[in-house]
Amino acid sequence: MGLDLSAVPDDVVRRYGLDGLPAGREQRTAADLLRLDGKRAIITGGGGDGLGAATCARLAEQGADVAVLDISPEAAAATVASIRDRWSVRAEPVVADVGDETQVRATIDDLAERWDGIDILVNNAGGSGSVGAEGQRVPHHGPFEEMAYRDLQDVVRVNLLGTMLVTRAVLPHMISAGAGRIVNVSSEGGKTAVTGLTAYNACKAGVIGFTRSLASEAGPRGVTVVGVCPGIMVSDRTVRALSDPQARGFAALDDAFARVSLGRATVVDEVAGVVAFLVSEAGSFIHGTSLSLGGGMAD
Ligand SMILES: NC(=O)c1ccc[n+]([C@@H]2O[C@H](COP(=O)([O-])OP(=O)(O)OC[C@H]3O[C@@H](n4cnc5c(N)ncnc54)[C@H](O)[C@@H]3O)[C@@H](O)[C@H]2O)c1
Repeated sequence: MGLDLSAVPDDVVRRYGLDGLPAGREQRTAADLLRLDGKRAIITGGGGDGLGAATCARLAEQGADVAVLDISPEAAAATVASIRDRWSVRAEPVVADVGDETQVRATIDDLAERWDGIDILVNNAGGSGSVGAEGQRVPHHGPFEEMAYRDLQDVVRVNLLGTMLVTRAVLPHMISAGAGRIVNVSSEGGKTAVTGLTAYNACKAGVIGFTRSLASEAGPRGVTVVGVCPGIMVSDRTVRALSDPQARGFAALDDAFARVSLGRATVVDEVAGVVAFLVSEAGSFIHGTSLSLGGGMAD
């Protein structure tokens, strides 16, 4: 039985947005609320073997068309191929550097025109998989005072500026449709100190602040904005790094892991599943916050 608002005066209905309540929601199954059929999604850093690719897979499984934005054509193509093998959705590579304003604007406008809109954006590119302006792997770790100026610029460029540039390119398409969902991938390191990751964590704290303020700007125009803060995620790349004797006892990892009360690291799919929930109607009222997904690391 839905709500009967007939006795509520019109001005009160408007004041509290009661005319915008999702009528009949309780009649739908939880599985239906999670479906994304016909939704058009862009995931940055969607190539590779980390959270981006896992998110592409979960969104495609729920029925979304998936644009895999990545600086690496090979990585984007690999994710696209794995989606096409499994799911009957549109999947396309979009090759761009999130830190390059011109590339971002051109590729996103082109996609939005061909797909006639964009419903979902996941700003995932960043972290230890970051690729800088000259195609080099961007180092994040180590004593802050020893970081090269160029590395500092690249950390900020990919982890903070890139999120802003992609969002700025996508947002007008969502606002003109009066709807959209944006998920920004931050980190538990944006909420708590981790020795040796100072510049990177400052960017991730910036992403949390960006999420909060953008939510208040974009929410009234129908766009939800939310952040996720993974803790220590283990992908194939992490396993390769942990297999290197030089990486054992790595200070940042030990420091962070000491605060994970669940006592284990996480796999990327545990975070990708939450992203898939957040961009669906099941997560429709989660807005402005950045969820801790670190097994207790920051809480
Ligand atoms: N790995 C962790 O433990 C961890 C912890 C907390 C937060 N995070 C965050 O999760 C997100 C995903 O991390 P991940 O390690 O799973 O990486 P990922 O595998 O999801 O992303 C790496 C992909 O991004 C692409 N990429 C790198 N730089 C790019 C650029 N400038 N423009 C476009 N594409 C680019 C790479 O080519 C690669 O395919 C990042 O934002 C990271 O900061 C990771």
